[in-house]
Amino acid sequence: MTNSFLKISNLKKSYHDANKDILIFDGINIALDKNNLVSIVGPSGSGKSTLLHILALLEKADQGQLFLNNEDLFKINENSKTLYRRNKISIVYQFNNLISDLTAIDNVTLPALINNIDKNSAYIKAKKLLSDLSLANRLNHYPTELSGGEQQRVAIARALINEPNLILADEPTGNLDHKTADEVFNILLNIKSKDRLIIFATHNRELAKKSDIQLAIQNSNVKILN
Ligand SMILES: Nc1ncnc2c1ncn2[C@@H]1O[C@H](COP(=O)(O)OP(=O)(O)O)[C@@H](O)[C@H]1O
Ligand SMILES: [Mg+2]
Repeated sequence: MTNSFLKISNLKKSYHDANKDILIFDGINIALDKNNLVSIVGPSGSGKSTLLHILALLEKADQGQLFLNNEDLFKINENSKTLYRRNKISIVYQFNNLISDLTAIDNVTLPALINNIDKNSAYIKAKKLLSDLSLANRLNHYPTELSGGEQQRVAIARALINEPNLILADEPTGNLDHKTADEVFNILLNIKSKDRLIIFATHNRELAKKSDIQLAIQNSNVKILN
């Protein structure tokens, strides 16, 4: 067993195309603790999104184990996986997937309502999260009425509302200008905690360098850069 919050053992993954297999991970091993902001760099197509999707239980590995708090998440049933995705693991995307006909506060509240939090508490919590991310005066704006950086902050608030222990972000700054990318990165840095691990994929070497742990995907393996 392990003491790390998150542990990946001998994880293998290939995609199968009509003519050939594409090897993505050839038995990777990673151990990470909470209170870290972890970056993943790697060329386009190296498997960054695949790794995050496997960690989010949205994609299956071919082989290997994924432990979160010593529980093997590849072994649990679909109901338990759904509960993990609702409560413990959140994902933030490059194109933030906000629901376009819901306001900022309704987007943030939605995962809490799905999680059976009462409406009043959910709204209070969403308002606090958005205010903490300097969006107190954007609560009733629709996504199209927000800048890219503001949309991404709403997506982060939405990812936070159920207080997950693991936040995964797939190129969360990929679509933002330099200054806004820095701001979003600083938010990620601020929301790591003793109860939370954050892993983000990025092409931005500058930001990767400022993370606590830098991982790189190379030749179907993951190595630690620092
Ligand atoms: N569902 C899929 N079916 C087949 N190949 C896929 C699938 N998803 C991703 N791939 C391939 O796997 C490789 C890794 O993809 P991805 O994880 O998206 O890389 P990255 O995020 O690092 O750019 C790419 O070559 C991609 O084309
Ligand atoms: Mg990707």
